[in-house]
Amino acid sequence: MSDPIALSFAGKTASADGVGVLFAEEGHKLTPAAQDLDKKTKGLLSRAAEIAGFKGRKDQTVDILAPQGLKFARLLLVGLEQPSTYGAEDWLNLGGTVRGLLSGREAPSAHIFLETAGGDVAPADIASFALGVLLRGYKFQKYKTKSRKKQDTGAEENDRTLKKIVIHCADPKAAAQAFAPVRGMAEGVALARDLVNEPANVLGPTEFAARAKALTKLGVQVELLGPKVLQKLGMGALLAVGQGSDRPSHVVVMQWKGAGVKGGDPIAIVGKGVTFDTGGISLKPAAGMEDMKGDMAGAACVVGLMHELAARKATVNVVGIIGLVENMPSGSAQRPGDVVTSMSGQTIEVLNTDAEGRMVLADCLWYAQKRFKPKAIVNLATLTGAVMVALGKEHAGLFSNNDELSERLTAAGRATGEKLWRLPLGAKYDKMIDSKVADMKNTGGKWGGSISAAQFLQRFIKDNTPWAHLDIAGTAMSSVDSEINRSWGSGFGVRLLDRLIADHYERH
Ligand code: BES
Ligand code: MN
Ligand code: ZN
Repeated sequence: MSDPIALSFAGKTASADGVGVLFAEEGHKLTPAAQDLDKKTKGLLSRAAEIAGFKGRKDQTVDILAPQGLKFARLLLVGLEQPSTYGAEDWLNLGGTVRGLLSGREAPSAHIFLETAGGDVAPADIASFALGVLLRGYKFQKYKTKSRKKQDTGAEENDRTLKKIVIHCADPKAAAQAFAPVRGMAEGVALARDLVNEPANVLGPTEFAARAKALTKLGVQVELLGPKVLQKLGMGALLAVGQGSDRPSHVVVMQWKGAGVKGGDPIAIVGKGVTFDTGGISLKPAAGMEDMKGDMAGAACVVGLMHELAARKATVNVVGIIGLVENMPSGSAQRPGDVVTSMSGQTIEVLNTDAEGRMVLADCLWYAQKRFKPKAIVNLATLTGAVMVALGKEHAGLFSNNDELSERLTAAGRATGEKLWRLPLGAKYDKMIDSKVADMKNTGGKWGGSISAAQFLQRFIKDNTPWAHLDIAGTAMSSVDSEINRSWGSGFGVRLLDRLIADHYERH
């Protein structure tokens, strides 16, 4: 749902108009392009910088309107502080910052002269910057009818609406090459955000499944498993969660075979897709319940990731599996005390119908292993409120039976800014979910709620399968404003898992 924006690359001296974006380092050292303009305008930039107290620090900007003798309507001078210390995430965030600065200062085109005082920016960093530009451009406003003049764009359209961004750099060809996979990434993240932002009246299990089915266009093989098939498979835990809803439960299996037969067994990515979580008979309080439209963020990430992998034709075999259910209270809803049999054959005593995500995942995880024998399995779920008590909204919780996978994920988190923090698993925690009447119960008592939830999932993982569970309740929805996102859904996990796959599972 991002505004359609034409983003391209051009040489440093290519013609430019509209909004010109220039940079300076700490101590207001202008970049060469900024120095050029300064000369052409007899010191306009440096004078304006001085008057504004601009020192080239991050978050400092100078905004100059109608600069005399130039084609630009406006010049924006942006502080880089110390770009020599930048990593990929800094370039990404800078792109987001610049896109944010452009909004409200719009002309049909913006020209960004991306360089440092000391020299050129590497193509990979330019690509990160460009991704930041695209991600920050995302808006979810399909239900804002008042500000919509044109039906199809979602944005208020006028002759000053930004339509084109050109990034000027030393080697536009190399930049364009590095940028090639970025468009698909931006689409994948936007797709995940769209799914999370969409209200639950519009997006139930069936509608969500239809959105996943659309990946077929990109060459992903998509199978929809409806309630009858799930019944036959014996997915009693997943079906129990959905049985109170009028909307039928679904599982969607998405296969991307980018590495072919030689690529061997796939990586499996499994997502919790509770399209709305009322808590069921163990009903949640009214305050904040509306947030539970985002309880499918794990599944949204899986769909966004599959889109992104297919769009950039990743050389890897990945299977995405999502469990789509709606957790409602009704005459047909499951009750506290019910005992259900999961696909694995293990029985579950349902002590709290609000601990539903683990039941959905239990059957999806089992199915993933049984059918695909994956090399590794990663699941994502808005699983527990407790993970926010532990980690806030800065890190997602990471649980794993495998140190190598855990370290790979943590490193991917650091590289992308989608950060993870590992929490423990162990036999004593596992005991917390032993049940008197069944093989296990679906809640583990008062303390360590995120851990007992993870222990529950682990009971559905075969011993030798490397597995990681990401509890994204704090990071995927109700998002804190950032340089690259101002929407409620963040799309958390798409960039993280792309990085994990690119670094460790792709055949290069
Ligand atoms: N979907 C919720 C977890 C959640 C809470 C996600 C807040 C995002 C924001 C999950 O299904 C749930 O209700 N978990 C319970 C578990 C409890 C009943 C053992 C929780 O966290 O309170
Ligand atoms: Mn719940
Ligand atoms: Zn839930």
